[in-house]
Amino acid sequence: MKRVPIFAANWKMNKKVADCADFAARLSSELQTAPGKVGQDFEVVLAPSATHLMTLHRALSGTGFKLGAQNGGSAKSGAFTGEVSPEVLKEVGVDVVILGHSERRHVFKEENALILARCKAALEEGLRVMLCVGEQLKERKEGKTFATIESQLAILKDFPKQWERVSIAYEPVWAIGTGENATPAQAQEVHAHIRNWFAQTIDSAQAASMRVLYGGSVKAENSAAIMAKEDVDGLLVGGASLDPGIFAAVIRNGLKSRT
Ligand code: PGA
Repeated sequence: MKRVPIFAANWKMNKKVADCADFAARLSSELQTAPGKVGQDFEVVLAPSATHLMTLHRALSGTGFKLGAQNGGSAKSGAFTGEVSPEVLKEVGVDVVILGHSERRHVFKEENALILARCKAALEEGLRVMLCVGEQLKERKEGKTFATIESQLAILKDFPKQWERVSIAYEPVWAIGTGENATPAQAQEVHAHIRNWFAQTIDSAQAASMRVLYGGSVKAENSAAIMAKEDVDGLLVGGASLDPGIFAAVIRNGLKSRT
């Protein structure tokens, strides 16, 4: 089963609006030498802060890159101070929404029920959803990695059945922003588990086409080894996505390991 890899940049709360145009142009020029064609052989998603979306959307015109949001509201509109409606995300050109990121879960205490509502609202607007899951260090040490991930994946049971618009990002919390990535073998083990769980619990036919990305201290030096693993279908990149040259190297190296 051929799954088109996704390379997603999660800028988190970094960069200024004024940085968007230069970033898009530089990444686009760097990827001229990538093995394959963006939008066809691989996808690139850039997810800035909500304030940057309109500007970045304009800057992405002609690049083939897609616009991502780092979160999305749980309803179309209403009394939700500080939230951004998925309808408006769509209006400003967003293609995919990252939901359930570990920083949302652990820093902002978002629970499964809220994450599910956000996912449903995004899917109802026709947006794609990238659902993030991952265990904390304590859970891994206690042998609870699979149980933790399954409890986070459980919300998929209540998703509308639009699996072509859903991807999953495995991001072990202990690997995010720490410089300590999961080994390729550790990533593969969890990715295979996610795919098997999906096949058994949700939809066996769709499991083979579901893209499962890895995130957590991805860099140019480790993207090839991680992407070489059979069940790794892309990368969600934080720190190493802030520089277009470095992010391009992450993508190029990751792609080379698959050809
Ligand atoms: P990192 O972040 O690449 O800086 O570890 C990844 C993420 O949080 O998505």
